[in-house]
Amino acid sequence: MKFHITTFGCQMNVHDSDWLTRALESRGWEAADEDEAQVYVLNTCSVRDKPEQKVYSELGRIAAHLRRDEDVFAAVGGCVAQQVGRGFFERFPFVKLVFGSDGIANAPNALERIAEGSDERVALLDFVSIYEERENPEERTVTLSENRQAFVNIMQGCDNFCSYCIVPYTRGRQKSRHPDAVVEECRALVESGVREVTLLGQNVNSFGMDKGGVGVSFADLLYRVAALDGLERLRFTTSHPKDIAPEVIKAFGELTNLCPSLHLPLQAGSDSILKAMRRKYNTKRYLEIVDALKEARPDIALTTDLIVGFPGETEEDFQQTLEMVERVGYESSFSFKYSDRPGVAAVNMEPKVDPQEASERLMRLQTLQNNITRKCLKNLESRETVAFVEGLSRKQDESGTWWKGRDPAGRIINFSMSEINGLVGMMVPVRITEAKKHSLVGERIGTPW
Ligand code: 5AD
Ligand code: SF4
Repeated sequence: MKFHITTFGCQMNVHDSDWLTRALESRGWEAADEDEAQVYVLNTCSVRDKPEQKVYSELGRIAAHLRRDEDVFAAVGGCVAQQVGRGFFERFPFVKLVFGSDGIANAPNALERIAEGSDERVALLDFVSIYEERENPEERTVTLSENRQAFVNIMQGCDNFCSYCIVPYTRGRQKSRHPDAVVEECRALVESGVREVTLLGQNVNSFGMDKGGVGVSFADLLYRVAALDGLERLRFTTSHPKDIAPEVIKAFGELTNLCPSLHLPLQAGSDSILKAMRRKYNTKRYLEIVDALKEARPDIALTTDLIVGFPGETEEDFQQTLEMVERVGYESSFSFKYSDRPGVAAVNMEPKVDPQEASERLMRLQTLQNNITRKCLKNLESRETVAFVEGLSRKQDESGTWWKGRDPAGRIINFSMSEINGLVGMMVPVRITEAKKHSLVGERIGTPW
């Protein structure tokens, strides 16, 4: 069978699609272009925007592709699948499988049964209360991606119920994976040549604090993974400020392969808005964490998520967000206009901010961020660092082949070298020669390894 997966949303979805690809390939299925696929999988996201419409229009597009003489069918997974569920079967008869994030472990078998004709339609929408190990996670190591970077799930779901967020409803309660399973997967990856691992979860800092916990904290897990021989870069995402333990901050000062970057969603700079968002920290506490992180690791690059136009946000509240962005000096941030998600608490909060006003706030915030980003990058000019090569740069010219890599903090560095292949997955010592708007330009100063 030939299949095509389209992925929307966060890194967890990207990683889930990646796993599904391998699981199907291990059954002899083949990833194919859209034109050739017999099975279409949409892995969906509903955290923002108009996700349902996006999925419906994508399914409409797929329907136009369907050839009558073949048994082509589709599967919808992820957050929108969890919300709409069997509704997809009625609206789009060629959808034969819907699966939520807890159902994905059984999706490969379900797809196989549908393709064989032994099942007509399958809905995998039940939530589980304990993390379900997926088949052969190590198998991934055999078909190791060329760039020698890997993502490893450490948990699923979220218990926080921030008042604007749909995730706890679509991904269910937090379920931590067994630490031994995480470490074993990381070990197998590193042994097969992976040099960078990113630990993934909706709220990694509360790892182990649920039914799946076995007394191993997130900090403990970091130390265990960081100790793997040959692991050069360790990252993790996403962190909730309220759960960052002092031991995790300390780890930034002690673990040399823990990368000096942290995504620490602030969401808003006003304490009353943070309260309404049910974030369970205030700006004072947030700044204490930031200062402690900077003390432990002075070169740490902080990034964040921000929401503007949350119900009740005044101009003064918004000013406080701008002030926090300036005070922390984020290297970059993702900022969004608040949008109502079905069933979340903020739907009933008033007054809603005028959409025009929210758009203006978003623009002002992004202008400020661009200026700060530019300054942060400018400060790095003439510094020496190491670029971990991910692939060719988009832009090429006559001066040599332009390669794209990342420094330890995750910033993009483009540099030129005469090699036309073989550099992906290599570490290249570089000196930063120029700061661009969102990336750096460097020159090679040493031998790649
Ligand atoms: N409206 C706008 N942004 C949202 N986010 C989550 N829910 C909403 C919403 N209803 C943003 C938050 C979160 C990021 C993944 O998406 O900033 O950190
Ligand atoms: Fe959503 Fe809050 Fe959980 Fe993040 S911590 S996934 S914003 S509920």
